[in-house]
Amino acid sequence: MTPAEAYTKISMLRTEVAQHDELYYRGARPEISDFEYDVLKHSLADLEAQFPQFAAADSPTQRVGDDRVQGFKEVAHRQKMLSLDNTYNETELRAFHTRLTKLLETDDLRYTVEPKIDGLAVSLTYEDGRLIRAVTRGKGDRGDDITANVLTIASLPRQLSGAAPRVVEIRGEIYMTQAEFERLNAERAAAGEELYANPRNTAAGTIKQLDSAEVAKRKLSIVLYSLGYCEPEVVRSQTELQEKLSAWGLPVVEKYWTVRGIDEAWAAVGELDQLRRTFAYGTDGAVVKLNDFEQQRTAGATDKSPRWAIAYKYKPDTARTRLRAITIQVGKTGILSPVAELEPVHLSLSTISRATLHNEDEIRRKDIRVGDLVEIERAGEVIPAVLRSFPEERMAGAQEFDLFAAVGGNCPVCGGKIARVDVDTESGVGAAWKCQNYDCRAQRAGRLGFFCSRRALAIDGLGETVAAKLVELDLVRDPPDLYDVLLETLATLNLGTAEEPRVFGEKNATKLVAAREAARSLPLEKWLFALSVPDVGESTARELGRRHRNFAQLTDSKLLRAVLQRAALEDEKETQSPNSKKNPAKDDAEKERRKARRVEIEAELAMLNDGILRGVPSEIGPAVAASTLEFFASEPGRRLLVKLKTLDIDPPGTVMEAGVFTGKTFVLTGTLPTMRREEAEQKILAAGGKVSGGVSKKTSFVLAGAEAGSKLDKARELGVRVIDEAEFSQLLR
Ligand code: IVH
Repeated sequence: MTPAEAYTKISMLRTEVAQHDELYYRGARPEISDFEYDVLKHSLADLEAQFPQFAAADSPTQRVGDDRVQGFKEVAHRQKMLSLDNTYNETELRAFHTRLTKLLETDDLRYTVEPKIDGLAVSLTYEDGRLIRAVTRGKGDRGDDITANVLTIASLPRQLSGAAPRVVEIRGEIYMTQAEFERLNAERAAAGEELYANPRNTAAGTIKQLDSAEVAKRKLSIVLYSLGYCEPEVVRSQTELQEKLSAWGLPVVEKYWTVRGIDEAWAAVGELDQLRRTFAYGTDGAVVKLNDFEQQRTAGATDKSPRWAIAYKYKPDTARTRLRAITIQVGKTGILSPVAELEPVHLSLSTISRATLHNEDEIRRKDIRVGDLVEIERAGEVIPAVLRSFPEERMAGAQEFDLFAAVGGNCPVCGGKIARVDVDTESGVGAAWKCQNYDCRAQRAGRLGFFCSRRALAIDGLGETVAAKLVELDLVRDPPDLYDVLLETLATLNLGTAEEPRVFGEKNATKLVAAREAARSLPLEKWLFALSVPDVGESTARELGRRHRNFAQLTDSKLLRAVLQRAALEDEKETQSPNSKKNPAKDDAEKERRKARRVEIEAELAMLNDGILRGVPSEIGPAVAASTLEFFASEPGRRLLVKLKTLDIDPPGTVMEAGVFTGKTFVLTGTLPTMRREEAEQKILAAGGKVSGGVSKKTSFVLAGAEAGSKLDKARELGVRVIDEAEFSQLLR
């Protein structure tokens, strides 16, 4: 791999991992399994190790996932909350022990082995035995203050029993029991609402609600297992901590082992695997911790995780069953995906009768045929997947699966044309069949469901079933048509059958109407994302929303046209280079012409990059630009815009309004006495200013702190005004 290729790959992986971090920590709605996530992250870490020149402090490999959401107060942890490194096999676990024996110069090490609870991390601060605060892990150094919500947890004592330290941070995990999860889902099913995916995400989603009365309605649980800051130091080992936690009256893990050496640790990991399914909380692994705190301190930690502890992840549960049929689902983008219809089988506490088969290539690669005995896997949270077939036990005459033939060459929902397209899959680019009809019922329902989803406009109460019904009855063609559906129509919507009616109901309908009205005031970025513009994902929508005032400006965007122009120039520069090997110049005269043209191109590129495209992030690339402009010029795109106008919906972009720093460019250098760098940058941006990396004559201010480097010298040399934090705050006021 060349460095350039590596760089592209690294950037792609960083974006991808960051997106999954966002989904998992902030949204509590992961889309891939932990295992798949770890694979992605490992490939990124490997590449970064191979190409250290592309290391970056803000790479997802260098920081813990951020769970902070808007609406909560942020609080600093007294001691940083770290994450754990994962291992998947015995060899990796033993390597952990070997590292420690070298580091501590002894192989007589004691460990504790504990269940790894699948919930969300929390830090509780008790002062003189009284619970005063509960904070999420956040970015590790500071998190969201969720005290009010944590106080709804019945099993958590507000007052520690017995003697307590003056100040202590106790860390643990908030979770939802399987029983409570099932109770909630039964309630939702009765109300025709979308079911929650799993206890972990439901617990995470619940704790991030702003209204603690709502939180109290869902019974959350908690378990404590680790120590943060503690003053005075009263605990010397993990085993002692476990005893102290119990003595203080706190809920602790159901079972843990104190062992000597890695052989005993490995045996305990095996015992835990046998027991863990009987626990109240989900466990997906074991945590092995060095027992002695003094040794823990010696071993230390990296920025992200301690060297003295490691998580061992168990293999996901699998089961065998018969593949009855393969049906085809059509998603919101029209992609036809195969679904396995299975003989129902029990797996990880639930009955499974459908599983994903990913795509046609995957079915071929795994040689899966209808009628086969198959192995399915449920990787913790996500949809179960078919892992493999057993061709040796196959019935005679089983046919290879052919998706095109299975659907008779047409979309199984609308009967329209289908075409072969490239799609991104987990294993790289693959091919899939796609329904070409934008107005296909399945696509319409998919888009409507997405429009209302929490990540989009959060119109709660409109799940898949309701979306499909509204489309089926032709009440909604494009998502915004939802605004025309009357309250009475919604209230009397029959989600069941004629024989067994199940009415949506007055209460649900009223809630939905309130939610759709609330969505009117959401910003451009949310609306743009909600309308399913091809290639525009969440972060792209956010970046576009920051740079356009409204839909009118976006659909005729100078910025997007500049992005396309830049791409065209770069392309020309490459193919028309005077010394191009691929496309050599015919003669010297042409070479000269190309040289002259290159000077022009360079100048045009510089003008774009220093002008309209300054600070435009990689999310807004030529593919996004082309796709956005094309979509809003197309018939469906124009139809949407007209509809929004009729509905009087004109969401504003989050363009910085003119502020005290409008037109001013800042360069930051050194450490400020009280403000973190990001904080200062945020303030500059919020006041309409810009932040740049290098000092030039155009720089308005250099904001300098302690140990400022060469930028300060440069500023003095160019006569740029240098200010300190105090002056900066003065200017802001
Ligand atoms: S100890 C310095 N013990 O797993 C590390 N963590 O993947 C302190 N977790 O952030 C963590 N069960 O939220 C520890 N028995 C256990 C755990 C546990 C679950 C979570 C914790 C941590 C995450 C890392």
